[in-house]
Amino acid sequence: MRVLVIGSGGREHAIVWKVSQSKKAEKIFCIPGNPGISEIASCVKISISDFPAILEFVKKEKIDLTIVGPEVPLVSGLADYFKENNQKIFGPSKKGALLEGSKVFSKQMMKKYGVPTADFEIFSGSKEAIKYIENKSIPRVIKADGLAAGKGAIVAKTMQEAINAIKQILDEKIFGDAGNEIVIEDFIKGEEVSSLAIFDNKTFIPLIPSQDHKQIFDNDKGPNTGGMGSYAPAPILNNKLQDKVNKEVFQRMLSCFREEKIAFNGVLFAGLMINGDDFGVLEFNARFGDPETQTILPLMQTDLLDVLNAAAENNLENIKIEWSDKSCVCVVLASKGYPNDYEKGKEIKGLEEIKKINNAVVFHAGTAIKDGKIVTSGGRVLGVTAIDENLKAAQAKAYDAVKKISFEGMQYRKDIASKEINRTKGINELTG
Ligand code: GLY
Repeated sequence: MRVLVIGSGGREHAIVWKVSQSKKAEKIFCIPGNPGISEIASCVKISISDFPAILEFVKKEKIDLTIVGPEVPLVSGLADYFKENNQKIFGPSKKGALLEGSKVFSKQMMKKYGVPTADFEIFSGSKEAIKYIENKSIPRVIKADGLAAGKGAIVAKTMQEAINAIKQILDEKIFGDAGNEIVIEDFIKGEEVSSLAIFDNKTFIPLIPSQDHKQIFDNDKGPNTGGMGSYAPAPILNNKLQDKVNKEVFQRMLSCFREEKIAFNGVLFAGLMINGDDFGVLEFNARFGDPETQTILPLMQTDLLDVLNAAAENNLENIKIEWSDKSCVCVVLASKGYPNDYEKGKEIKGLEEIKKINNAVVFHAGTAIKDGKIVTSGGRVLGVTAIDENLKAAQAKAYDAVKKISFEGMQYRKDIASKEINRTKGINELTG
């Protein structure tokens, strides 16, 4: 098969890397890709928002399957455009991607189809929103409706913070038109986990759970980022809870897609808050997670191309996904200053060293080539990923690999997967 992957981050590098292991992958292209991806696929400079140019490329290169990584082209209707032009694509329709593109739509669908989520109200005027919140308890969550590069959800810990957030989003338009409406919802306590499932229009297959580390500093301190590292599987979503999630989230969303006539051949990513035996959906994304994908795909034993092609053809019911029983950890290396303004153009050293380590791989995110050298070009630069027999060994291997890489100003968390490892250690100590 001739395959095209759209995107340029660590998630897309992981997808291309996994697809490249398929015997059926005859030729892989990536638009626009990155220096890491260019080692295993042909990267093509086309804007991911230039749909006619992408279509022309797909026709010229006789692409059999296009796989979309990021949400922006999906929310703009790339999958619909492909289908109108008789091209096969893995990625939900514009209406499906609205589950990520509009928090208002997403919460309305969750409520309508009985998916467990926090109670909420929707507002478009700040006066009404402030009047409502003044009678409510704190903390409370305020979310801009549209895409806001991961910054649109604010957990207000004081009434003043809540009022400021409402005014900033609705009146000052800090997120532009993405803030024409807001969702105000109850704060739910617990621990977050990412539960992803591959959907076609008939069925779904859940992937192993993964846990992201959103804050920039160790022990979940500091501002939120795109994700500083992940591990899989995440045992906090145990089998009993996964069954509940399948029944109460994915099965109900399959009904939603049928009833609302939403074409959904893609990934539904449920961000969950777990509290004991209970959970609530914090948000939906309509794509693979980043950096969750960097730890989920290395453990997939089934041919990813078979899975995604079957989903694109509404043939998922004939697929069973097998998983390795090992663990995987990804540590994100970021530029100095990230998640605020960050430095660029710093030479990255040590990448060749990692290739000598068995079961370790570096996924490129924000890298570029300058004067023949690989340099930093983004906030999140690399995802250093390792597989081993258990989480502790995978963590040790990932951090050993991290030590081989350097660039000026490099920062990373030292505690990716530690919470889970310490929890397991606690249980082992208790049970002797
Ligand atoms: N890791 C969170 C996301 O992909 O949105």
